[in-house]
Amino acid sequence: MNIALHTTTEAHIIDGKATAQTVLEEIKAEVESMKVQGIEPCLAVVLVGDDPASHVYVRNKVEKAQYTGIRSLEYRMPAETHAETLLKQIDELNTDASVHGILVQLPLPAHIDETAVLQRIDPLKDVDGFHSENVGGLSQGRDVLTPCTPTGCIRLLKDTLGDDLSGLNAVVVGRSNIVGKPMAALLLKESCTVTIVHSRTRNIQDICKTADILVAAVGKPKMIDSSYLKSDAVVIDVGINRIQENGKNRLVGDVDFEDVCNTVKAITPVPGGVGPMTIAYLMKNTLEAARMQAKQI
Ligand code: GUN
Repeated sequence: MNIALHTTTEAHIIDGKATAQTVLEEIKAEVESMKVQGIEPCLAVVLVGDDPASHVYVRNKVEKAQYTGIRSLEYRMPAETHAETLLKQIDELNTDASVHGILVQLPLPAHIDETAVLQRIDPLKDVDGFHSENVGGLSQGRDVLTPCTPTGCIRLLKDTLGDDLSGLNAVVVGRSNIVGKPMAALLLKESCTVTIVHSRTRNIQDICKTADILVAAVGKPKMIDSSYLKSDAVVIDVGINRIQENGKNRLVGDVDFEDVCNTVKAITPVPGGVGPMTIAYLMKNTLEAARMQAKQI
């Protein structure tokens, strides 16, 4: 059990920021010991275009890499870059033995085929876990690189509920390739009974009411309120939605935090819940990728 829990009158607030810091400290120590063995873990981040949010995310990733001692390389390319130029850059990074992880920041400009780009990354360097080789490996329960956000969510769940999640009813709200589907696969790997609900599901509320674990990843502000949840549910809110409230900009999740925080067993806040875990697990995947590649030599 982790100590990164605060108690309110009823629910535990799962402190993702504190847990992410713990993970970063673990990584820092492991990077140091890898360097002693002559391996310097290295992450290459590729950013195409000038989406302001992507620039902020990339800056954060580079900062956290520096913090943990991971070497980082940044490749910025203009929005009008040809797909072939980007693919050539990926090929170069694939063959560069000093680079262990490759991340192409999404979304890409509309003229570039995202799938073709993600499929070009060497699966052993695919720190996003988006290559079909890794997606397939996860669904077969093999030890492969897995997407950072859902992997971070599993850590938060284990810190809250203990390492054994087997037999628990898990409901994932949302079926995206980045979060919903890999989250369901990871929960299944932990032997949970997993249900995915989505926009076409009938009786979403009744299904959510069966959840011991509920993971919300739909991008609908405050969609899940207390009428969706039983009192011993552990709630992981992946949503990050910008809304206007009382004339002010505010970040909220897919869960109505104020409504549920005194009725459920534990919940992640937004911000400060899942968000910081994503970057921490990107660093962990880079370390894992470096380890796997060292074994291959
Ligand atoms: N853009 C938003 N989230 C992600 C992510 O998890 N990985 C990448 N590569 N781009 C993103």
